[in-house]
Order: sequence, then C-alpha cells, then structure tokens
Amino acid sequence: MVKPDNKAGNDDTEEPVDERLKGIDPKMIELINNEIMDHGPKLTWDDVAGLEFAKKTIKEIVVWPMLRPDIFTGLRGPPKGLLLFGPPGTGKTLIGKCIASQSKSTFFCISASSLTSKWVGEGEKMVRALFAVARCNQPAVIFIDEIDSLLSQRSDNEHEASRRIKTEFLVQLDGAATDSEDRILIIGATNRPQEIDEAARRRFVKRLYIPLPEDIARRQIVVNLLKQQKHQLTDQDLDLICHKSDGYSGSDMANLCREAALGPIRSIPFDQIETITNDEVRAIILEDFLESLTQVRASVSIKDLDLYIEWNQLYGSFGK
Ligand SMILES: Nc1ncnc2c1ncn2[C@@H]1O[C@H](COP(=O)(O)OP(=O)(O)O)[C@@H](O)[C@H]1O
Ligand SMILES: [Mg+2]
Repeated sequence: MVKPDNKAGNDDTEEPVDERLKGIDPKMIELINNEIMDHGPKLTWDDVAGLEFAKKTIKEIVVWPMLRPDIFTGLRGPPKGLLLFGPPGTGKTLIGKCIASQSKSTFFCISASSLTSKWVGEGEKMVRALFAVARCNQPAVIFIDEIDSLLSQRSDNEHEASRRIKTEFLVQLDGAATDSEDRILIIGATNRPQEIDEAARRRFVKRLYIPLPEDIARRQIVVNLLKQQKHQLTDQDLDLICHKSDGYSGSDMANLCREAALGPIRSIPFDQIETITNDEVRAIILEDFLESLTQVRASVSIKDLDLYIEWNQLYGSFGK
C-alpha cells in the first residue's frame, strides 16, 4: 500500500493500492489523476463536422469495443494503436475529446511535448506511470497529441533523455498490444506523420487520414458557430462562403467566423461603443464574411497537402 507522506495520517488518504502500481512514484500517480485524466466538456460526434469516414471507423474500432468487450474478442479484438494524421487544424484533437466523451472509458490526454519538456528528466518514468495508471482504470484510452515530438526519427544528435522516453513508450505500446486482457487503446495524433520512424509507425496498426474539410463540412462549421450569433446569411450566402473557402482547414474556418463576427462591432462609431446595447449591434452579413475572407487565408499549402496524401497512400490504413 502506498501512503503519501502525511504525518497527520488522515484516513481519507488510505486507498487500497493496485499491484500494478508497485514501484511507481505516488507523486506521479497523483499528478496523472489530477492533470492527465480528462474532465473536459461533453462533446458529441455532431460537434465534429464532416469526416464521416473517420468517425465511422473510429466508432467501429474504439467506441463499440469499449462498450461491448464481450462481443469484440478474439478475431474481432480491436487494434491497440490508432494514429490520426493530417494537416493542422482539421479536428484531430477535437476527435480525441469526442472519444473521451463518448467511449465511456477512462480517458488520459497528454501532449507529447509536455512529456519531453515539462517533466524534464522524468519523462520516461512518467510514461511508465501513465500506462500503469491506465491499466488500473480499464477500459482506458490514452490520447497523445503531437506524438511526432515523442517518436520522431532523430539521428545522432538525439538527446539521451528523449531517446529513453521513446524507448519506454515503445515498450509500453508493445506491452499493451500483446496482452489480450488489457483494454487499453493508444491514440496518437500528428500533423507531421513523416517524422515518425518505422519502428513506431508499425505499432500503430490503424493509421487514419484526417483531411481538410469538404464543402459540406465547412458549411456545417460556419452554421454551427453562427448559431449563437445574430446573422442574416441566406443559403446562397453560405454557398458562396463555402465556395470561396476551398482549401481552408476547420480551424481556418473558425478564425474566418471569428473575424466576420467582429464586422458589426467595427461598424459601430467609436463614441457609441460604450453605450450601445447588445440589441442595437447589427447582424452579421455576407459582406462581413467577404471582408474576413481577404484577411484570413488558408493555412495549409497545396504542397504540404500533397505530402499528406502521399503518406496516406504509402502508410494509411485506407489510403489505397
Ligand atoms: N472537423 C471539424 N469540425 C468542427 N470544428 C473543427 C473541425 N476541425 C477543426 N475545427 C475547429 O478548429 C479547432 C482546432 O482543431 P483541432 O482539433 O485542434 O485541430 P488539429 O488537432 O487537427 O490540429 C477546433 O477547436 C475547432 O474549432
Ligand atoms: Mg491538435
């Protein structure tokens, strides 16, 4: 039993401790419980615009097996590693949060860069602690954002510390994959799949491309964000906005809407800004979006996009 160094010896700190947590620093366990386990907002799949194929695949391999482990055994056993890759701002982190809300499993969310920077020198122990705590809280999903910074194929100048974190991580991944009793799914998200080396790539059995949003999805994002706002956009206006925002990512679309929503505010004469009532602020109109489209540009270049498509064809689970 692990007891924190508590001289008062409060009863409420005494918990039976799992065998699997033996040898793990109690401070780290507490840290994981407090910081990494996600207590974020409730999200539904409708909050993720478009990406129908990705959503369907994720439900199939993540959500259902967690809900009905009795059915998904043996041949139907779900993969233990899933990689979400694609351009920045396309909803990978959003999908992670959605899985957290929907899968009814314990959700651990951690950004790889914080493993390498925040817990300097202790990252490796932290990885071990993370997997141990997850094992005690099955079914569990470990979501690792920006996983490239953990698994990149650095060569000679690779730091000793980050090399150790990476090695530990691969060991833990293997452990989770080979133990058929464990119900732990590791999901990695990355904007830079090219930087993940072969050894790490192999361990993510499913590799799912998260592309830029199509017309319908971009429209959905705009409609969603405008719900809480006064606006006068017609269906034709929305068509035009979607047409003109070809190549924008989901987060570009969110920025576009934010900028357009400022249009009505900017049109208020300066001396009235202090006294104007909310009702008197005019509705958002097409012109606000046209102006915003000149300010907010697509953040992903066609050249970059080609790299993702190529990687998907080479290594994606559904790229062919
Ligand atoms: N498919 C999407 N549906 C709805 N909103 C999206 C979508 N993709 C991106 N966004 C918006 O962009 C923001 C950033 O997305 P994020 O999930 O962090 O991108 P990524 O992790 O792929 O870089 C989200 O918070 C959301 O506002
Ligand atoms: Mg992200």
